[in-house]
Amino acid sequence: MKTPPTLALLFVAFSTSVVLAQVIRGDSKAGQSVYEQQCLRCHGANLDGSGPDSQDLIVQPADLRSQISRSKTDWELLVAISNGVLFSPMHSFRGKLTDEQMLDVLSYIRSISPPNITS
Ligand code: HEC
Repeated sequence: MKTPPTLALLFVAFSTSVVLAQVIRGDSKAGQSVYEQQCLRCHGANLDGSGPDSQDLIVQPADLRSQISRSKTDWELLVAISNGVLFSPMHSFRGKLTDEQMLDVLSYIRSISPPNITS
């Protein structure tokens, strides 16, 4: 499968940021408002997956504060945001959010729930 150019660019940005000690290039303040508008209804105000719409879903929203989510890399989380998660209500936000907004919202998530990557 051919990698879409925006994703390739994001990959370059992220590989660089991983090298630079996991510095996320996003504005967490801007990311908070993206989160409140687009994500809160499922992932909840505390990022724990208990948003107002979560009861209606067959697959529960991820608890973004969990050990599982925190041990994922920025890249893995970004792919989930950008591409969505297959067979789940987590749809793709590509086209709905700009690349910058996706970085912002990731930065917001990481500011509340910092990465815990041991390897
Ligand atoms: C319609 C409900 C819904 C909305 C809206 C939603 N999500 Fe999700 N999200 C989910 C579900 C459900 C999963 C879990 C899928 C699974 O368990 O595999 C998920 C998974 C994720 C993951 C993967 C977590 C992991 O540990 O792999 C991330 C990151 C994420 N969402 C971020 C976001 C962001 C950022 C937004 C807003 C831009 C958002 N989501 C909006 C339902 C939603």
